[in-house]
Amino acid sequence: MKEAFRHIYGASPDGIWAAPGRVNLIGEHTDYNDGFALPIAIPQNTLVAARRREDGRLRLHSHQGDGPVIDLDVDDLTPGAVTTWGAYPAGVVWALREAGHRIGGADLHVDSTVPTGAGLSSSAALECAVAFAYNDLYGLGLGAPALALISQRAENGFAGVPCGVMDQMASACCTTGAALHLDIRAGTHEQVPFAPESEGLCLLVIDTGVKHDLGDGAYAALRAGCERAARLLGVAALRDISPADLPSTARMLPARLVPLVQHIVTENARVTESISHLRAGRVAALGPILSAGHASLRDDFRISCDESDLVVDTALAHGALGARMTGGGFGGSVIVLVDEGRAQALGAAVTAAFRSAGYLAPHLFAVSPASGARRIE
Ligand code: GLA
Repeated sequence: MKEAFRHIYGASPDGIWAAPGRVNLIGEHTDYNDGFALPIAIPQNTLVAARRREDGRLRLHSHQGDGPVIDLDVDDLTPGAVTTWGAYPAGVVWALREAGHRIGGADLHVDSTVPTGAGLSSSAALECAVAFAYNDLYGLGLGAPALALISQRAENGFAGVPCGVMDQMASACCTTGAALHLDIRAGTHEQVPFAPESEGLCLLVIDTGVKHDLGDGAYAALRAGCERAARLLGVAALRDISPADLPSTARMLPARLVPLVQHIVTENARVTESISHLRAGRVAALGPILSAGHASLRDDFRISCDESDLVVDTALAHGALGARMTGGGFGGSVIVLVDEGRAQALGAAVTAAFRSAGYLAPHLFAVSPASGARRIE
């Protein structure tokens, strides 16, 4: 990173910051419904080497983007002004200034091992790495949750994606060896020990290769549907509906909104149940909850796809305790909870099933809960 930075900008960086991608164990699309989620950080990180500038210029370069340096004036940052990958880092600088922080420019060089378009929150990792870098470069003194909110503001207000805050909270606040229990309405987060290896289990991530893009309107439509359902039910958010309310709420809603509510309400209950199991040291008990979560996303929320369903079905047929798509949906990655001894054969079975179906080979790796964003140099 240092050498690349020197090569691009002709000087050494002031420091290097890292922020991870995430997988969500359970609690999907619940964040913008004021509900619960339970993500972990994955070991794949986005790194940002950064150097403060005093002339108000913001220069951006990405190893993956491999294009020329993007050169901006921080005073000119307005939503829509940057439409490439640069919208995420530029959005963070914009969001910090919007929040009243007196910050200037910087030179940034980005390199990442978080796969893009795989539902693993590469954009949140980029935003958080930049937010943490700016926090230190300009001595802002903001804590990790505040930096997560700034990162979400960048994505909502500058990049134009109406996401919730789960991904940014995961990237900013996760710790090694734990899942992050998010209560979005309360604005709280709590570390819940998550150590599958202690029960001889492993968590596999299987990237289907189906590119997922939150900016394409489907995510916004789902969010709008949930918010409309809440309005019709006279509650602030679907968080306020309990499983016992479901039969009566169904009679108050247009048919197309009923399954959306069904998913959110049952999904919040799945998060709560998962946390009880983890607190009692029963990781294996998460298996059926993950699979039920997948069925709910497939049948009620309707955001799975053939490739993700094939991974889940093949995994379950080859001894997985549970499996589900993770993230925003419409492709991306599947998580699989499986006995360590069966993981390899399961992976081979999924790869063979993809070959038979004529799909490109999926990308598989095991993850353990990793550290959230931090300065590394
Ligand atoms: C995306 C969004 C998150 C969340 C998930 C679905 O990852 O960025 O805020 O809504 O989808 O759980």
